[in-house]
Amino acid sequence: MTKPLEGIKIIDFTHVQAGPACTQLLAWFGADVIKVERPGSGDVTRNQLRDIPDADALYFTMLNSNKKSLTLDTKKPEGKEVLEKLIRESDVLVENFGPGALDRMGFSWERLNELNPKMIVASVKGFSDGHHYDDLKVYENVAQCAGGAASTTGFWDGPPTISAAALGDSNTGMHLAIGILTALLGRDKTGKGQKVAVSMQDSVLNLCRVKLRDQQRLERVGYLEEYPQYPHGEFGDVVPRGGNAGGGGQPGWVLKCKGWETDSNAYIYFTIQGHAWEPICKALGKTEWIDDPAYKTAEARQPHIFEIFKTIEAWLADKTKFEAVDILRKFDIPCAPVLTMKELANDPSLRASGTIVEVPHKTRGSYLTVGSPIKFSDMKPEVTASPLLGEHTDEVLAGLGYSKQEIFNLREVRAV
Ligand code: COA
Repeated sequence: MTKPLEGIKIIDFTHVQAGPACTQLLAWFGADVIKVERPGSGDVTRNQLRDIPDADALYFTMLNSNKKSLTLDTKKPEGKEVLEKLIRESDVLVENFGPGALDRMGFSWERLNELNPKMIVASVKGFSDGHHYDDLKVYENVAQCAGGAASTTGFWDGPPTISAAALGDSNTGMHLAIGILTALLGRDKTGKGQKVAVSMQDSVLNLCRVKLRDQQRLERVGYLEEYPQYPHGEFGDVVPRGGNAGGGGQPGWVLKCKGWETDSNAYIYFTIQGHAWEPICKALGKTEWIDDPAYKTAEARQPHIFEIFKTIEAWLADKTKFEAVDILRKFDIPCAPVLTMKELANDPSLRASGTIVEVPHKTRGSYLTVGSPIKFSDMKPEVTASPLLGEHTDEVLAGLGYSKQEIFNLREVRAV
């Protein structure tokens, strides 16, 4: 099956998570992704949080599938020469080094554009160019704090909280992938490459858009009616943390189900859609609430929404999270069980759709990873193992026209 990005050659100068998540996605869709790694060590995640001695860590294998690995010291003149050759025949270079690292290596945007004016140069940095923090190195949690996620996540009586979802890392990588694909389409029209830059702060803030909405509403009216602080609590002048409240126009909360005393994930998320009030009452057996003026409208319900949630919890007390959802789905109520990683890993639907995939690996045996969350009617992205360090060095160098003797002579800059 021909994949849409087949024929697109990408120099993957990325490490850790934000950049690798982007290039992995493009590799799934057919791009030829060559990961350039420092000889001897490679991407730092190969060694981080290892579960099997001497085998690449899951952190690496789960973010670098479908790629090739070229080890090359790009700070040495011979290594730079090889990189220049690769640049001349590539479509995209993706990097997420610390600020200024690529310039220090001698590959500024101007130099890259001179070497290959058709190449797209895509970068992730913590903060955007010209930002007063643009010299900072940034990891996931730093970005969540800088992008507004931490101040608005968690409970009002606790500290700012980090989400487990990689809002700073993988999310930024997904933004970058969109930027690269857009620039590739642009190049079809203009014949020119361009620089695509995405900052982790901006990418987090983009996902916190509704919190910026709330800041403006708060400044105008002084309260936020969908937050648990309304109407009994106090509002200050910044968007507060709202616990598990729904961020849209319909209230929701995480509710206890049977077994919550011993199982910390025996919960469902329950949403009270305004127009679904009647089915909710029917599902709960509280038909008297349907026309009761104290319950009938969203406005009337809001002052005692937690009393309503308590009533729903009483109904849930003898139902597991799965039993509860099986009943509520018949009434068209938006809800879901709170699923653990163990449950997700073994979910037959996720296995069947290719969202959870088992990948054979040369040194660690098979491992589970998250496959493409994007599904196509004409293509099923296939996930193949991440490369061993330098696994494709000779192949890539031969592809660049180096003879066996020349490859041997390069041993100082390419040795694993
Ligand atoms: N050959 C020779 N040198 C290489 C190389 C290669 N193949 N690949 C990388 N290097 C060098 C770089 O040139 C740089 O050297 P320099 O600092 O002397 O100029 C160094 O390795 C990498 O530096 P840096 O990226 O700053 O690594 P770090 O471990 O200190 O910082 C981050 C890690 C992630 C904090 C930093 O890269 C960063 O802020 N990146 C941008 C934001 C980001 O993507 N964050 C991570 C999200 S998961």
